[in-house]
Amino acid sequence: MPHDATPPLGATRRRLLATALFGGAAVVAAPRIAWGQALPHAARIEQLIAAMTIEEKAGQLNLLNDPFRFRPQSVNPTDGEGDPARVAAEIRAGRIGNLFNGVGAETGREIQRIAVEESRLKIPLLFAADIIHGLFTVFPVPLAEASSWDTDLAYRTARAAAVEGAASAIHQTYAPMVDVGRDQRWGRVVEGAGEDVLLNNLMSVARTRGFQGERGLADPQALLATPKHIAAYGAAEAGLDYNTVDMSEAQLKEVYLPPFKAAFEAGALSTMSAFNDINGIPATGNEWLLTELLRGEWGFEGFVVSDYTSEQELIAHGFAADGRDAARIALLAGVDMSMVSGLYLEHIPDLVASGDVPMAVVDRAVRRVLSVKAALGLFDDPYRGTSVERERREVGTAEHYALAREAGRRSVVMLKNDGGLLPLPKSGKRIALIGPFGPSLDVFGPWTIWGDESKRVSVEQGFREAMTDPSLLTVVEGSGVEEALDGGIEAAVAAARAADIVVLALGESQGMSAEAQSRADIVVPPPQQALAEAVAATGKPVVVLLRNGRALELSGAVRDAPAILVTWFLGSEMGRSVADIVFGDHAPDGRLPVSFPQLSGQQPFYYSRKTTGRPASSRDEGYKAQFREVGHAPLYPFGHGLTYGAVTYGAPSVGGGVLPWDGSLEVSVQVTNTGRRAASEVVQLYIRDRVATMTQPRQLLKDFKRIEIAPGATETVRFTLRREQLLFVGRDLEWTVEPGEFDLWLAPSAEVGEPVRFRLER
Ligand code: NOJ
Repeated sequence: MPHDATPPLGATRRRLLATALFGGAAVVAAPRIAWGQALPHAARIEQLIAAMTIEEKAGQLNLLNDPFRFRPQSVNPTDGEGDPARVAAEIRAGRIGNLFNGVGAETGREIQRIAVEESRLKIPLLFAADIIHGLFTVFPVPLAEASSWDTDLAYRTARAAAVEGAASAIHQTYAPMVDVGRDQRWGRVVEGAGEDVLLNNLMSVARTRGFQGERGLADPQALLATPKHIAAYGAAEAGLDYNTVDMSEAQLKEVYLPPFKAAFEAGALSTMSAFNDINGIPATGNEWLLTELLRGEWGFEGFVVSDYTSEQELIAHGFAADGRDAARIALLAGVDMSMVSGLYLEHIPDLVASGDVPMAVVDRAVRRVLSVKAALGLFDDPYRGTSVERERREVGTAEHYALAREAGRRSVVMLKNDGGLLPLPKSGKRIALIGPFGPSLDVFGPWTIWGDESKRVSVEQGFREAMTDPSLLTVVEGSGVEEALDGGIEAAVAAARAADIVVLALGESQGMSAEAQSRADIVVPPPQQALAEAVAATGKPVVVLLRNGRALELSGAVRDAPAILVTWFLGSEMGRSVADIVFGDHAPDGRLPVSFPQLSGQQPFYYSRKTTGRPASSRDEGYKAQFREVGHAPLYPFGHGLTYGAVTYGAPSVGGGVLPWDGSLEVSVQVTNTGRRAASEVVQLYIRDRVATMTQPRQLLKDFKRIEIAPGATETVRFTLRREQLLFVGRDLEWTVEPGEFDLWLAPSAEVGEPVRFRLER
């Protein structure tokens, strides 16, 4: 029921809702102020601020869960608790200015009507939602999509999600998540673009632009983007969600902040403060972060919303004494809008009366929120996005599903394909599809609250549609996701024996990589591993299809299978996208946005780690920065991904080898497709600053290009390198670059190939 955003409600709830929406509490007379339609927004906002009571000001800074509209999944601790009648009364009283996580045009219109017709100042509500990778049509999880290394694709899926959201009476999305994820134990790596700064920056910009569109925020199809969670939420110690972050300011500036800055430069006008503390100061109470840096240095003009009760959590952090203190600290730090806790509404009047918070600080926050409402066109058209007819037309379209399928197949990464086992023939072979994720409809991935469940395509369905003779397909679960199934292994082994080829669909359920779902051991769950061992022992050729929201440790029969595809969570069309690749209608061309370690215990593990004074060594030497069991290399490096062609690289060429201070250096490499199918190759440029006044990463991605190479052809791929690409954050915490020697790789992934040397000369 994708088009009907007003699904069946229980009778009591329906009554409550009707009373709430139409209940007719007495309307307080509107103030006699002379603000006319013709006033420019800034002047109008000042007039409003001058006319507002302190309670009404606090109301504009108050954001609550939408209790009116359907939310089929719970995504936050208390999100089912709202009382429609109470919330409607509070809106009428001007004590709530913003609601989130309700979608639907028809009810949206009724809720908005309360604000603009029944509240004293008639200020429209702002409706926000977690639209992370699609609304009704679900696109690949962001980590999967980042595997496409294709910013145009990320733009297009964000645009489609925005079209659906904006047609369902939503104005703001809590996306993109731009937290760099270097520890795969963290459950929320799945929501971002992985471990690399450049890839995160590019995806951050593409998604921000995609959500907001090209025609300004007032465009009826635009959604305000909210890059989150500022800052360094992804660097939680031990990958444990919400945990402490303690890092140098240089690292913060070099790695964790750039994707935010990139999003703001692309026009994002809101951001969400993180749950974690950074160097002893919780992000939500961090004036340096949210005011000095964000406003002062970066010139950000939008508003900051707290994450779900994160201002209240200042108490648990031991950073605020009580709710009043928490509200004071967050407000003074620069958090403009309070999510769910109600602390702003409760304490702002007294905080101002007592002089603990200057009125100017409250006005500043209100001004920011109202300015964004104005930018969204809400003062001109508060009912934007509330046409039921348009909603029907624009959500869940065939075009969006086609995009979901395309994005899905572009997100698949082929780790391995020994002996050219893939693609599989569509006919003539008996295929056993074994594992919990063959028939499973667990395809959306986390953060899909409203995805249309009736349109999910399993891998089994995708295979049946693709195969010429689907009767050659046998499907056996063999195991649950985390528990064994009675007789499962026996049934699976029998199916494997009777087949020519086994496809093992294994991995994590969507609930295993999500908020608060950190894993201490990032392995394929043991019952599935046992299934894989038993099936592999039949000696049949095995293709592994991994379902995962993070890089995993692969071992035994899973690691040793001749072919492995990383299929993540690909959204609504998952089964078809996977079948497109498995049966060869499309070649895989995704690249890993995260390194696959050899063992969980290597986390955090990322290609751009520092060398240390005793770099890990492939030779059997002692006293090196490596683990007893595995050394310190990835199983599959960042950037890795094969296709059905076979690509080889020549040695990179750096021309004269000198990059002049104000000039550029042309570098190139010859890439040959020695295979029999066309190849789509992502040529990656990495550098290493060999000697600097701060230790530098062992490699850093600086550019990449995707090229198509015909079978047998050789292409020369050229890049232009400039000084600006060699910047790092120096001891004085400013971006700097130093002349000297650099290594350069032009390679199919990180951690492979031989570098060549060039000099930056002043
Ligand atoms: C908590 C999550 O951390 C955040 O990403 C999300 O946007 C909010 N809840 C609202 O649902």
